[in-house]
Amino acid sequence: MELFQLVPLILLSFYLLSNNVPQASAQRSTYIVHMDKSFMPKAFSSHHYWYSSMLQSVKSVAQTSLEPKLVYTYDNAFHGFTAVMSKNELQALKRSPGFLSAYADDVVTPDTTHSYKFLSLNTATGLWPASQYGKDVIIGVIDSGIWPESPSFKDDGMTEIPARWKGICQSGEEFNSSLCNKKLIGARYFNEGVRAAIPGVTITMNSARDESGHGTHVASTAVGNYVDGVSFFGYESDALAGIDQAVADGVDILSISLSYRRRDLYENPIAIAGFGAREKGILVSVSAGNRGPSFATLLEGIPWAFVVASGTVDRWFSGTLTLGNSKTITGWTMFPARAVVRNLNLVYNETLSACNSTELLAEAPDQSIIVCNLTDKNTSLFFLWSDLSRSNARVAIIISEDTSILRSTSFPYPGVVITPSEARDVVNYASNSDTPIASITFQETILGLEPRAAPALSGSSSRGPARSYPGILKPDIMAPGVLILAAYNPYTSTARIDNNIFLSSDYTLLSGTSMACPHISGIAALLKAAHPDWSPAAIQSAMMTTANPRDNTGKPIKDTEFNYRVATPLGIGSGQVDPNRALDPGLVYDANVQDYVNLVCSMNFTPEQTRTIIRSSYNCSNPSSDLNYPSFIALYEVQENRTTLTRKFKRTVTNVGNGAATYKVKVDKPKGSTITISPETLVFRKKNEKQSYSLTIRYRSNNEFVINDGSITWIEENGQHTVRSPIVVTPGVSDD
Ligand SMILES: *[C@@H]1O[C@H](CO)[C@@H](O)[C@H](O)[C@H]1NC(C)=O
Ligand SMILES: *[C@@H]1O[C@H](CO)[C@@H](O)[C@H](O)[C@H]1NC(C)=O
Ligand SMILES: *[C@@H]1O[C@H](CO)[C@@H](O)[C@H](O)[C@H]1NC(C)=O
Ligand SMILES: *[C@@H]1O[C@H](CO)[C@@H](O)[C@H](O)[C@H]1NC(C)=O
Ligand SMILES: *[C@@H]1O[C@H](CO)[C@@H](O)[C@H](O)[C@H]1NC(C)=O
Ligand SMILES: *[C@@H]1O[C@H](CO)[C@@H](O)[C@H](O)[C@H]1NC(C)=O
Ligand SMILES: *[C@@H]1O[C@H](CO)[C@@H](O)[C@H](O)[C@H]1NC(C)=O
Repeated sequence: MELFQLVPLILLSFYLLSNNVPQASAQRSTYIVHMDKSFMPKAFSSHHYWYSSMLQSVKSVAQTSLEPKLVYTYDNAFHGFTAVMSKNELQALKRSPGFLSAYADDVVTPDTTHSYKFLSLNTATGLWPASQYGKDVIIGVIDSGIWPESPSFKDDGMTEIPARWKGICQSGEEFNSSLCNKKLIGARYFNEGVRAAIPGVTITMNSARDESGHGTHVASTAVGNYVDGVSFFGYESDALAGIDQAVADGVDILSISLSYRRRDLYENPIAIAGFGAREKGILVSVSAGNRGPSFATLLEGIPWAFVVASGTVDRWFSGTLTLGNSKTITGWTMFPARAVVRNLNLVYNETLSACNSTELLAEAPDQSIIVCNLTDKNTSLFFLWSDLSRSNARVAIIISEDTSILRSTSFPYPGVVITPSEARDVVNYASNSDTPIASITFQETILGLEPRAAPALSGSSSRGPARSYPGILKPDIMAPGVLILAAYNPYTSTARIDNNIFLSSDYTLLSGTSMACPHISGIAALLKAAHPDWSPAAIQSAMMTTANPRDNTGKPIKDTEFNYRVATPLGIGSGQVDPNRALDPGLVYDANVQDYVNLVCSMNFTPEQTRTIIRSSYNCSNPSSDLNYPSFIALYEVQENRTTLTRKFKRTVTNVGNGAATYKVKVDKPKGSTITISPETLVFRKKNEKQSYSLTIRYRSNNEFVINDGSITWIEENGQHTVRSPIVVTPGVSDD
């Protein structure tokens, strides 16, 4: 059974570049230019001619051989173009009527590289009762490519493609246009930005096919290394072209998992294009980024995008250890490859088993499975991995009862964790056999029993407040993003490490917020289908106010960093998404495009910067930073002896329940603060009625740098609905 009737993709392809790439021309660069289209003279039949003609007119007379070159024009998510030109030409262009802003094109990297597997994650959300509603909703995924043969894209039982779909299935290298179907309804690739930036670039896969899973590549990184920033990359202008096209093609939801370094919203192409998409009723979900766990590591927290943090899942994986005497023990492991280790020497040496000495570990017998006894030891696996990877041993059996040893979210070394009582059999066998051997099979089954409460916030997930604009709490929500495993091996051949370790190519070491983001996009698509009249803000609100701040043990969600302390809304936003509850939230905090315009207008930007984002269809007659948002953040300046803060918010909620309802407020106040809500009861006589309330935070503290959080919850009287918003009182971000 599939979650969505249609899950098509718009793809931005990233390319593996050859090592000796010629340097881009020193004088000429690629610029993304934002234009005010209301200035377009009537004589031009299209924006394309206008931009071409403008570029011709700024051509430097001195340089007749090199002309400014138009790379892309954009007309859907925003207005403007990308062009290669000189600084002089850019200066001349700035004097053209309608010019708003320009900045140099820059590299983007995917937050992970295994995008083709993302959609299979949707089958794990357990939202079957609602699956019929996914019909006809189109999700655009802007990412590194796709493996179209994946069973995730089988279209069995799919209905016809919606007539409004205007996209194509672009053929290219190893990508036949017949590969698209009723589920994968489109695919495109964009590489003009890469080509413009690096003339003569070698593009190894000139199509929408995702190349990031090659067996050789996998084998070389499989053991001991953490795959980070694989050299697949594209340019902002390519991502923009993908978004602009997706908007034109008719997507309902845009899922963007890219990292870039733009901090200012008016120079952030995803923020600008995202605004245009939202204006057209498209919900844009983006990954928070993987720069955590420190404070304010969320650089590009776009206020009008749904920003997704990444959490652990409650599924852990088993590894079956089989001793030479046929005794089997099921341990847990998060080693992310489907690997088999066959008949390696099993070594139990009491001195060695402390596994706390790099020197001793380096001398461990070659090609062996060693036993590490971490019982009652406060050793983090994170450090053990690096020691083991330098050792001759190939596999580790780790004895521990305490799963908090897993402070790192990665498990890059083939290892299996067993309990001290299970270890007795292993030690007995190893000590009493002449040639003890063992085999381990990883990832055979999914353990229903989680060794640790889940979800927990991933350490690498970027934390708020957002540097781009700290006044709206970001990230918004958390979704599973740690060690998500796909059930499909795109290659038939398997790789081998040494003689006895066999790896399948389905190697999904990476975890990240870009794994989390498509969960949110998928759930948003369901909500959109169930409630076609809901705005993107309403869909977002429904997911946020019903999100769960508690884990599966009923305790507050923890942070996998900082020794599993309780996570704050700066890490998890409103909490873990709860798809079933989001279908029926009771109340929503709605916002329209004008509300977002008013927010942008309050940001102290220059008129050009403002218009780059909001374009000329709107004006700044009513600036307001108090967006009708389903969360609250109050920023204070750290004072020497005493910090005081008073912040007042106004909110309006819309009753999307079935009829009359009365809600009473419950406040869980952040430490050191008082919260005043007025009124404390909201009475709705009918569906779609709106009611407003004010919330005032008064905060007082002697401390320097503390983050305090709480929440307000509107609880329906004699009803099921609870509508929760987190409140966080936090130091602001310094301008460094
Ligand atoms: C695409 O695949 C179909 C079916 O396998 C085949 O008939 C067709 O010739 C292919 N087209 C191209 C351009 O390779
Ligand atoms: C255990 O390992 C240590 C360090 O490598 C070594 O000196 C010692 O001989 C080993 N003991 C046995 C019984 O193999
Ligand atoms: C390693 O652990 C053993 C046994 O717990 C202990 O005696 C030894 O001091 C430790 N060595 C280091 C370097 O921590
Ligand atoms: C592991 O270490 C614990 C605590 O140091 C000890 O009690 C236990 O006997 C050891 N187990 C094995 C199998 O070495
Ligand atoms: C374990 O180590 C962590 C990090 O080094 C430390 O914060 C914690 O207090 C230790 N716990 C125990 C029980 O020693
Ligand atoms: C600004 O926009 C508002 C709402 O669209 C409109 O009523 C008003 O006339 C506009 N003001 C100017 C100066 O364009
Ligand atoms: C802070 O308190 C200290 C000790 O009471 C005092 O000396 C200092 O002047 C105070 N600073 C400010 C800015 O009030």
